[in-house]
Amino acid sequence: MIEIVDPVKTERLALRPFTEADAEDMLAFESLPEVARYLFNEPRTPEDNAKELATRQGQTALRKEGDTLMLAVELDGTVIGYTLLVWLSEEHKQGEFGYVLHPAHHGKGYATEASVEMLRIGFEQLGLHRIIGRCDPRNTGSAAVMERIGLRKEAHFVESEIFKGEWGGELHYAMLATEWQNSRWSS
Ligand SMILES: CC(C)(COP(=O)(O)OP(=O)(O)OC[C@H]1O[C@@H](n2cnc3c(N)ncnc32)[C@H](O)[C@@H]1OP(=O)(O)O)[C@@H](O)C(=O)NCCC(=O)NCCS
Repeated sequence: MIEIVDPVKTERLALRPFTEADAEDMLAFESLPEVARYLFNEPRTPEDNAKELATRQGQTALRKEGDTLMLAVELDGTVIGYTLLVWLSEEHKQGEFGYVLHPAHHGKGYATEASVEMLRIGFEQLGLHRIIGRCDPRNTGSAAVMERIGLRKEAHFVESEIFKGEWGGELHYAMLATEWQNSRWSS
């Protein structure tokens, strides 16, 4: 069981639960078409954003499989994105992580820095055996985050689903606990 109450500090960021006060910062990136392009959601309206924020405020712990831990990525007091960890299977010790940043903060390594902490929580606190990441093959920035961290590309599914009205595929990346221990990120 993992519950995040206090901010998890990285070199430049604080990862912490969302609060009601984050609505404006969150909408600033959630409303952008380029942010939603390869996500399952559409750009959010203020109403959608408020509903999603309420959901995220409850996603502060991994108590059982199926739970999502959703943390705001805060830089100098502003929420510039989020990162998440889903507990996919308790029996098989599997998880999945994800990340989204405001485009104004791309290109500085923040998604990589935040994601590494989610992997640390998954491997070192929850005891996961394998953590995956998935992205659209056209989402080169997302694939680059996973490769930079050192995940292995395990699969490239071609036209495996209808995504936003057209055929879309999926890249699957993964890291094992042993690979984490041998990585430069491990504690
Ligand atoms: C996916 C996403 C988070 C990637 O953002 P990003 O800025 O490329 O990723 P990072 O924050 O890790 O930054 C990496 C870049 O910063 C550079 N960088 C600068 N300082 C760095 C540092 N200290 N550490 C690591 N990288 C650094 C890297 O060289 C890299 O630049 P490059 O793209 O020119 O090679 C972003 O494109 C996004 O939010 N997209 C919309 C949402 C989305 O699709 N999410 C993923 C769903 S699967």
